[in-house]
Amino acid sequence: MTLDQRLLTGKDRRDYEKVRLFFGEVAKHIPLSADTPIVDLCCGNGMLGFYFLELYPEGYVHFYDQQQTERFRELAEGKTNYTFHQEDINTLTQTEEGILLSIHACYILTDKVIELGLQEHKPFAIMPCCHRREMIQQCETPPHVLHTYGLADYIDITRANAIRDQGRSCTLTEIKRNRKKKNNLIIVP
Ligand SMILES: C[S@@+](CC[C@H](N)C(=O)[O-])C[C@H]1O[C@@H](n2cnc3c(N)ncnc32)[C@H](O)[C@@H]1O
Repeated sequence: MTLDQRLLTGKDRRDYEKVRLFFGEVAKHIPLSADTPIVDLCCGNGMLGFYFLELYPEGYVHFYDQQQTERFRELAEGKTNYTFHQEDINTLTQTEEGILLSIHACYILTDKVIELGLQEHKPFAIMPCCHRREMIQQCETPPHVLHTYGLADYIDITRANAIRDQGRSCTLTEIKRNRKKKNNLIIVP
């Protein structure tokens, strides 16, 4: 099955657009090619990895998720250059060879992806989601600072700084999906 944008509807179409914008930004910082596999963590329906295979039909994708969806199986039909790893990523200490990518690794799963990227000295890129107030230490965060940045930006700026403290370069950028909706992107080459 190809990911012909014209045939996609509903959630698939939104996911496709998100993934297209994600790769557009990531490619500015991390060289992508068919020679380097990607590791799609918390892959869900696998749109990220399958889009990569559209860009690089000779490439290889390692998908990780705690469960495989029916939609994943449909999108995977006819494809052989991938492996699905059914794993709880919280228990992982290493992943297969490749660039770590993750879209909407919810809440603190993003921090687990960051931990793996740093630990394995791999390039990685993440689009975080589900930022919650309990993720920040109230005592260290004066309310006016939080008010200025907004919760999601504040948390992701803190994440980016923590990555830089580990000696890695890190770009925090954003993609705009429409006038109201934007997503942050943490990119570590
Ligand atoms: C919001 S969805 C994102 C899916 C996909 N990346 C996307 O952008 O559409 C989060 C995914 O994380 C998976 N997930 C949640 N907890 C997990 C864990 N501990 N280990 C592995 N996958 C997990 C869920 O099964 C789900 O597919």
